Amino acid sequence: MSRIVSPTPEAITNAAEILCAGGLVGLPTETVYGLAANALDGQAVAKIFAAKGRPSFNPLIIHCHSVEQAATLVEMTPEALALAEAFWPGPLTLILKRTKDCPVSDLAGAGLPTLAVRIPRHEVALAVLKACDLPLAAPSANKSGALSATTPAHVAEAFKDEIDLILAAGASAVGLESTVLDLSMGEPAVVRPGAVTAEEISEVLARPVVYDKGDPEVPRSPGQLLKHYAPSIPVRMNAIDLLPGEALLAFGSIKFMGIKGGGAAKDLPDDSLRNLSEEGDLHQAAANLFSMMRQLDQPAHKAIAVMPIPDTGIGVAINDRLRRAVESR
Ligand code: TXA
Ligand code: MG
Repeated sequence: MSRIVSPTPEAITNAAEILCAGGLVGLPTETVYGLAANALDGQAVAKIFAAKGRPSFNPLIIHCHSVEQAATLVEMTPEALALAEAFWPGPLTLILKRTKDCPVSDLAGAGLPTLAVRIPRHEVALAVLKACDLPLAAPSANKSGALSATTPAHVAEAFKDEIDLILAAGASAVGLESTVLDLSMGEPAVVRPGAVTAEEISEVLARPVVYDKGDPEVPRSPGQLLKHYAPSIPVRMNAIDLLPGEALLAFGSIKFMGIKGGGAAKDLPDDSLRNLSEEGDLHQAAANLFSMMRQLDQPAHKAIAVMPIPDTGIGVAINDRLRRAVESR
Protein backbone atom coordinates (compact mmCIF):
# COMPACT_ATOMS: atom_id res chain seq x y z
CA MET A 1 0.00 0.00 0.00
CA SER A 2 1.03 3.61 -0.54
CA ARG A 3 2.16 5.39 2.57
CA ILE A 4 -0.64 7.59 3.96
CA VAL A 5 0.65 10.23 6.36
CA SER A 6 -0.75 13.27 8.10
CA PRO A 7 0.64 16.52 6.71
CA THR A 8 3.17 17.41 9.41
CA PRO A 9 6.00 19.81 8.48
CA GLU A 10 8.30 16.75 8.13
CA ALA A 11 5.80 15.02 5.82
CA ILE A 12 5.55 18.15 3.68
CA THR A 13 9.33 18.33 3.38
CA ASN A 14 9.36 14.64 2.50
CA ALA A 15 6.65 15.17 -0.14
CA ALA A 16 8.69 18.00 -1.67
CA GLU A 17 11.79 15.77 -1.77
CA ILE A 18 9.85 12.98 -3.48
CA LEU A 19 8.48 15.44 -6.06
CA CYS A 20 11.94 16.94 -6.74
CA ALA A 21 13.27 13.42 -7.25
CA GLY A 22 10.60 12.63 -9.86
CA GLY A 23 8.14 10.71 -7.67
CA LEU A 24 4.35 10.84 -7.29
CA VAL A 25 2.48 12.30 -4.31
CA GLY A 26 -1.24 12.10 -3.49
CA LEU A 27 -2.05 15.69 -2.64
CA PRO A 28 -5.16 17.16 -0.98
CA THR A 29 -6.72 20.20 -2.61
CA GLU A 30 -9.99 21.99 -1.84
CA THR A 31 -11.68 20.39 -4.88
CA VAL A 32 -10.55 16.74 -5.00
CA TYR A 33 -7.31 14.87 -4.25
CA GLY A 34 -4.64 15.28 -6.93
CA LEU A 35 -1.94 12.92 -8.17
CA ALA A 36 1.02 15.28 -8.27
CA ALA A 37 4.37 15.24 -10.08
CA ASN A 38 6.98 17.80 -11.09
CA ALA A 39 5.48 19.41 -14.20
CA LEU A 40 8.95 20.20 -15.58
CA ASP A 41 10.04 16.56 -15.55
CA GLY A 42 8.65 14.58 -18.48
CA GLN A 43 9.50 11.23 -16.90
CA ALA A 44 7.73 12.13 -13.67
CA VAL A 45 4.70 13.30 -15.66
CA ALA A 46 4.75 10.04 -17.64
CA LYS A 47 4.30 8.19 -14.35
CA ILE A 48 1.01 10.05 -13.80
CA PHE A 49 -0.33 9.00 -17.21
CA ALA A 50 0.78 5.39 -16.60
CA ALA A 51 -0.68 5.17 -13.09
CA LYS A 52 -4.03 6.69 -14.14
CA GLY A 53 -4.26 4.84 -17.44
CA ARG A 54 -4.89 8.28 -18.93
CA PRO A 55 -4.76 8.86 -22.70
CA SER A 56 -1.75 11.05 -23.48
CA PHE A 57 -3.86 13.48 -25.56
CA ASN A 58 -5.61 14.64 -22.37
CA PRO A 59 -3.51 17.42 -20.77
CA LEU A 60 -3.04 17.91 -17.02
CA ILE A 61 -3.70 20.92 -14.80
CA ILE A 62 -0.57 22.68 -13.58
CA HIS A 63 -0.72 23.88 -9.98
CA CYS A 64 1.19 26.97 -8.87
CA HIS A 65 1.80 28.69 -5.52
CA SER A 66 1.60 32.24 -6.86
CA VAL A 67 0.48 34.39 -9.78
CA GLU A 68 4.17 35.23 -10.38
CA GLN A 69 4.98 31.55 -10.80
CA ALA A 70 1.98 31.05 -13.11
CA ALA A 71 3.16 33.99 -15.22
CA THR A 72 6.40 32.13 -16.04
CA LEU A 73 4.31 29.34 -17.59
CA VAL A 74 1.40 31.08 -19.31
CA GLU A 75 0.60 34.53 -20.71
CA MET A 76 -1.35 36.11 -17.86
CA THR A 77 -3.57 38.49 -19.84
CA PRO A 78 -5.37 41.36 -18.08
CA GLU A 79 -8.50 39.18 -17.92
CA ALA A 80 -6.52 36.28 -16.44
CA LEU A 81 -5.06 38.63 -13.82
CA ALA A 82 -8.50 39.95 -12.91
CA LEU A 83 -9.82 36.40 -12.46
CA ALA A 84 -6.73 35.40 -10.46
CA GLU A 85 -7.33 38.39 -8.19
CA ALA A 86 -10.97 37.41 -7.73
CA PHE A 87 -10.74 33.62 -7.42
CA TRP A 88 -7.17 32.43 -6.64
CA PRO A 89 -6.33 30.55 -4.57
CA GLY A 90 -9.48 28.65 -5.49
CA PRO A 91 -11.36 26.20 -7.67
CA LEU A 92 -10.87 27.96 -11.03
CA THR A 93 -8.50 26.66 -13.72
CA LEU A 94 -7.50 28.99 -16.55
CA ILE A 95 -6.51 27.79 -20.00
CA LEU A 96 -4.02 30.27 -21.42
CA LYS A 97 -1.29 30.42 -24.05
CA ARG A 98 2.04 28.98 -22.95
CA THR A 99 4.84 31.53 -22.59
CA LYS A 100 7.58 31.36 -25.25
CA ASP A 101 10.04 29.66 -22.94
CA CYS A 102 7.50 27.76 -20.85
CA PRO A 103 9.46 24.99 -19.09
CA VAL A 104 6.51 22.64 -18.51
CA SER A 105 6.96 19.23 -20.15
CA ASP A 106 5.13 18.85 -23.46
CA LEU A 107 3.62 15.61 -22.20
CA ALA A 108 1.89 17.45 -19.31
CA GLY A 109 0.34 19.87 -21.79
CA ALA A 110 -0.36 17.13 -24.38
CA GLY A 111 1.68 19.09 -26.91
CA LEU A 112 -0.91 21.90 -27.04
CA PRO A 113 0.03 25.60 -27.36
CA THR A 114 -2.09 26.26 -24.25
CA LEU A 115 -1.78 25.18 -20.63
CA ALA A 116 -4.28 24.83 -17.78
CA VAL A 117 -3.14 26.50 -14.52
CA ARG A 118 -4.57 27.15 -11.07
CA ILE A 119 -3.59 28.01 -7.50
CA PRO A 120 -5.35 25.62 -5.10
CA ARG A 121 -7.01 26.92 -1.92
CA HIS A 122 -5.61 24.31 0.46
CA GLU A 123 -2.90 24.93 3.01
CA VAL A 124 -1.27 21.51 2.50
CA ALA A 125 -1.17 21.84 -1.29
CA LEU A 126 0.23 25.37 -0.97
CA ALA A 127 2.83 24.27 1.59
CA VAL A 128 4.06 21.50 -0.74
CA LEU A 129 4.08 23.84 -3.76
CA LYS A 130 6.17 26.34 -1.80
CA ALA A 131 8.48 23.72 -0.32
CA CYS A 132 9.46 22.30 -3.72
CA ASP A 133 9.02 25.59 -5.60
CA LEU A 134 8.05 23.65 -8.72
CA PRO A 135 4.87 23.81 -10.77
CA LEU A 136 3.02 20.55 -10.09
CA ALA A 137 1.02 18.66 -12.67
CA ALA A 138 -1.88 17.10 -10.78
CA PRO A 139 -4.92 15.49 -12.31
CA SER A 140 -7.60 14.12 -10.03
CA ALA A 141 -6.22 11.07 -8.16
CA ASN A 142 -8.44 8.41 -9.72
CA LYS A 143 -8.01 5.89 -12.50
CA SER A 144 -8.97 7.46 -15.83
CA GLY A 145 -12.76 7.38 -16.25
CA ALA A 146 -13.55 6.53 -12.62
CA LEU A 147 -15.06 8.75 -9.93
CA SER A 148 -12.67 11.38 -8.57
CA ALA A 149 -11.10 10.85 -5.15
CA THR A 150 -12.33 13.04 -2.30
CA THR A 151 -10.65 11.16 0.60
CA PRO A 152 -7.14 9.75 1.13
CA ALA A 153 -8.65 6.25 1.29
CA HIS A 154 -10.09 6.68 -2.23
CA VAL A 155 -6.58 7.53 -3.46
CA ALA A 156 -4.98 4.56 -1.71
CA GLU A 157 -7.64 2.16 -3.03
CA ALA A 158 -7.17 3.29 -6.62
CA PHE A 159 -3.37 3.22 -6.70
CA LYS A 160 -2.21 0.60 -4.17
CA ASP A 161 1.61 1.00 -4.22
CA GLU A 162 1.92 3.14 -7.38
CA ILE A 163 2.25 6.39 -5.38
CA ASP A 164 5.21 7.19 -3.15
CA LEU A 165 3.27 9.13 -0.52
CA ILE A 166 -0.29 10.27 0.18
CA LEU A 167 -0.80 13.36 2.33
CA ALA A 168 -4.05 12.86 4.22
CA ALA A 169 -6.11 15.92 5.07
CA GLY A 170 -9.64 14.59 5.42
CA ALA A 171 -12.47 14.90 2.91
CA SER A 172 -12.18 17.53 0.17
CA ALA A 173 -14.22 20.63 1.02
CA VAL A 174 -15.67 21.33 -2.44
CA GLY A 175 -15.87 17.73 -3.64
CA LEU A 176 -15.98 18.48 -7.39
CA GLU A 177 -13.10 19.29 -9.73
CA SER A 178 -12.33 22.94 -10.47
CA THR A 179 -14.16 25.02 -13.04
CA VAL A 180 -12.08 25.01 -16.26
CA LEU A 181 -12.27 28.28 -18.20
CA ASP A 182 -10.77 28.59 -21.67
CA LEU A 183 -9.40 32.11 -22.11
CA SER A 184 -7.17 31.22 -25.05
CA MET A 185 -9.69 31.92 -27.82
CA GLY A 186 -11.96 34.87 -28.53
CA GLU A 187 -14.92 34.24 -26.30
CA PRO A 188 -14.29 32.95 -22.74
CA ALA A 189 -15.84 29.51 -22.33
CA VAL A 190 -16.38 27.25 -19.35
CA VAL A 191 -15.39 23.82 -20.64
CA ARG A 192 -15.92 22.08 -17.28
CA PRO A 193 -18.36 23.55 -14.75
CA GLY A 194 -17.31 23.68 -11.09
CA ALA A 195 -17.75 25.69 -7.90
CA VAL A 196 -16.90 29.00 -9.59
CA THR A 197 -19.86 29.62 -11.89
CA ALA A 198 -20.01 31.15 -15.38
CA GLU A 199 -22.13 33.98 -13.91
CA GLU A 200 -19.46 34.84 -11.32
CA ILE A 201 -16.76 34.84 -14.01
CA SER A 202 -18.88 36.93 -16.33
CA GLU A 203 -19.36 39.50 -13.58
CA VAL A 204 -15.60 39.92 -13.12
CA LEU A 205 -14.91 40.07 -16.86
CA ALA A 206 -17.92 42.29 -17.56
CA ARG A 207 -18.71 40.28 -20.67
CA PRO A 208 -20.62 37.11 -21.51
CA VAL A 209 -19.10 33.73 -20.70
CA VAL A 210 -20.44 30.72 -22.57
CA TYR A 211 -20.81 27.20 -21.25
CA ASP A 212 -19.29 24.90 -23.88
CA LYS A 213 -20.55 21.34 -23.41
CA GLY A 214 -18.14 19.98 -26.02
CA ASP A 215 -18.72 19.70 -29.75
CA PRO A 216 -17.53 16.21 -30.74
CA GLU A 217 -16.20 17.64 -34.07
CA VAL A 218 -14.17 20.46 -32.49
CA PRO A 219 -13.90 20.03 -28.72
CA ARG A 220 -12.34 22.99 -26.90
CA SER A 221 -11.00 20.67 -24.23
CA PRO A 222 -9.90 17.05 -24.73
CA GLY A 223 -11.54 16.16 -21.40
CA GLN A 224 -14.97 16.94 -22.88
CA LEU A 225 -14.74 13.85 -25.09
CA LEU A 226 -13.85 11.37 -22.43
CA LYS A 227 -15.95 8.97 -20.50
CA HIS A 228 -15.92 10.13 -16.94
CA TYR A 229 -17.12 9.77 -13.38
CA ALA A 230 -18.50 6.31 -14.00
CA PRO A 231 -19.63 3.99 -11.22
CA SER A 232 -19.81 0.32 -12.22
CA ILE A 233 -23.64 0.22 -12.18
CA PRO A 234 -26.03 2.43 -14.23
CA VAL A 235 -27.03 5.88 -13.03
CA ARG A 236 -30.52 7.33 -13.60
CA MET A 237 -31.04 11.08 -13.18
CA ASN A 238 -34.10 13.15 -12.25
CA ALA A 239 -35.75 10.20 -10.53
CA ILE A 240 -39.10 11.10 -8.97
CA ASP A 241 -39.83 7.57 -7.89
CA LEU A 242 -37.79 4.41 -7.45
CA LEU A 243 -37.78 1.18 -9.41
CA PRO A 244 -37.46 -2.08 -7.51
CA GLY A 245 -33.80 -2.94 -6.91
CA GLU A 246 -32.52 0.59 -7.35
CA ALA A 247 -30.45 2.43 -4.75
CA LEU A 248 -31.44 6.03 -4.07
CA LEU A 249 -29.16 9.04 -4.09
CA ALA A 250 -31.53 11.59 -2.62
CA PHE A 251 -31.48 15.37 -2.52
CA GLY A 252 -33.80 17.03 -0.02
CA SER A 253 -36.79 15.35 1.59
CA ILE A 254 -37.75 11.80 0.57
CA LYS A 255 -40.87 11.75 2.73
CA PHE A 256 -43.19 11.35 -0.23
CA MET A 257 -41.03 9.24 -2.54
CA GLY A 258 -42.41 5.84 -3.42
CA ILE A 259 -41.08 2.62 -4.90
CA LYS A 260 -42.94 1.37 -7.99
CA GLY A 261 -44.78 -1.81 -7.13
CA GLY A 262 -45.02 -0.85 -3.47
CA GLY A 263 -43.02 0.61 -0.62
CA ALA A 264 -41.52 3.92 0.41
CA ALA A 265 -38.01 5.22 -0.23
CA LYS A 266 -37.62 6.21 3.41
CA ASP A 267 -37.82 2.53 4.38
CA LEU A 268 -34.91 1.47 2.16
CA PRO A 269 -32.12 -0.39 3.95
CA ASP A 270 -29.15 1.75 4.92
CA ASP A 271 -26.87 0.40 2.19
CA SER A 272 -29.36 1.48 -0.52
CA LEU A 273 -29.93 5.06 0.54
CA ARG A 274 -27.78 8.17 0.77
CA ASN A 275 -28.94 11.79 0.94
CA LEU A 276 -26.65 14.37 -0.71
CA SER A 277 -28.21 17.04 1.48
CA GLU A 278 -31.38 16.68 3.50
CA GLU A 279 -31.62 20.48 3.70
CA GLY A 280 -31.28 20.77 -0.07
CA ASP A 281 -27.91 22.59 0.16
CA LEU A 282 -26.09 22.36 -3.18
CA HIS A 283 -22.60 22.90 -1.73
CA GLN A 284 -23.13 20.09 0.77
CA ALA A 285 -24.44 17.93 -2.09
CA ALA A 286 -21.30 18.62 -4.17
CA ALA A 287 -19.05 17.70 -1.25
CA ASN A 288 -20.90 14.40 -0.77
CA LEU A 289 -21.43 13.43 -4.42
CA PHE A 290 -18.44 11.20 -5.22
CA SER A 291 -18.24 9.51 -1.80
CA MET A 292 -21.93 8.67 -1.80
CA MET A 293 -21.87 7.42 -5.40
CA ARG A 294 -19.02 5.10 -4.36
CA GLN A 295 -20.98 3.88 -1.34
CA LEU A 296 -24.03 3.04 -3.47
CA ASP A 297 -21.97 1.50 -6.28
CA GLN A 298 -22.61 -2.13 -5.33
CA PRO A 299 -23.40 -5.02 -7.70
CA ALA A 300 -26.47 -5.86 -5.59
CA HIS A 301 -28.16 -2.68 -6.89
CA LYS A 302 -29.69 -2.49 -10.36
CA ALA A 303 -28.86 1.20 -10.66
CA ILE A 304 -28.37 4.40 -8.71
CA ALA A 305 -31.44 6.63 -9.05
CA VAL A 306 -30.63 10.27 -8.39
CA MET A 307 -33.31 12.79 -7.44
CA PRO A 308 -33.49 16.05 -9.45
CA ILE A 309 -30.75 18.54 -8.61
CA PRO A 310 -31.51 22.24 -9.35
CA ASP A 311 -29.42 23.39 -12.31
CA THR A 312 -28.19 26.59 -10.65
CA GLY A 313 -24.88 27.59 -9.06
CA ILE A 314 -22.73 24.56 -8.31
CA GLY A 315 -25.77 22.42 -9.26
CA VAL A 316 -24.71 22.90 -12.90
CA ALA A 317 -21.43 21.11 -12.09
CA ILE A 318 -23.19 18.35 -10.13
CA ASN A 319 -25.55 17.71 -13.07
CA ASP A 320 -22.58 17.74 -15.49
CA ARG A 321 -20.84 14.96 -13.51
CA LEU A 322 -24.08 12.98 -13.20
CA ARG A 323 -24.78 13.29 -16.94
CA ARG A 324 -21.32 11.95 -17.70
CA ALA A 325 -21.88 9.07 -15.30
CA VAL A 326 -25.13 8.26 -17.16
CA GLU A 327 -23.58 8.60 -20.63
CA SER A 328 -20.39 6.71 -19.90
CA ARG A 329 -22.14 3.38 -20.09
O1 TXA B 1 -9.96 20.38 -9.25
C1 TXA B 1 -9.17 20.04 -10.12
O2 TXA B 1 -9.04 20.67 -11.17
C2 TXA B 1 -8.33 18.79 -9.85
C3 TXA B 1 -7.42 19.09 -8.67
C4 TXA B 1 -6.48 17.97 -8.35
O3 TXA B 1 -6.73 20.28 -8.88
N1 TXA B 1 -7.61 18.40 -11.02
C5 TXA B 1 -8.24 17.88 -12.12
O4 TXA B 1 -7.40 17.57 -13.17
O5 TXA B 1 -9.43 17.69 -12.18
P1 TXA B 1 -7.79 16.63 -14.39
O6 TXA B 1 -6.51 16.38 -15.09
O7 TXA B 1 -8.53 15.44 -13.90
O8 TXA B 1 -8.69 17.52 -15.31
C6 TXA B 1 -8.11 18.45 -16.19
C7 TXA B 1 -9.12 18.90 -17.22
C8 TXA B 1 -9.31 17.86 -18.29
O9 TXA B 1 -10.69 17.82 -18.63
C9 TXA B 1 -8.48 18.39 -19.45
O10 TXA B 1 -8.95 17.97 -20.69
C10 TXA B 1 -8.59 19.89 -19.26
O11 TXA B 1 -8.62 20.09 -17.87
N2 TXA B 1 -7.43 20.60 -19.82
C11 TXA B 1 -6.17 20.61 -19.32
N3 TXA B 1 -5.35 21.34 -20.12
C12 TXA B 1 -6.10 21.81 -21.13
C13 TXA B 1 -5.84 22.62 -22.29
N4 TXA B 1 -4.63 23.10 -22.56
N5 TXA B 1 -6.87 22.89 -23.12
C14 TXA B 1 -8.10 22.42 -22.86
N6 TXA B 1 -8.42 21.66 -21.80
C15 TXA B 1 -7.44 21.34 -20.94
MG1 MG C 1 -10.12 13.91 -13.60
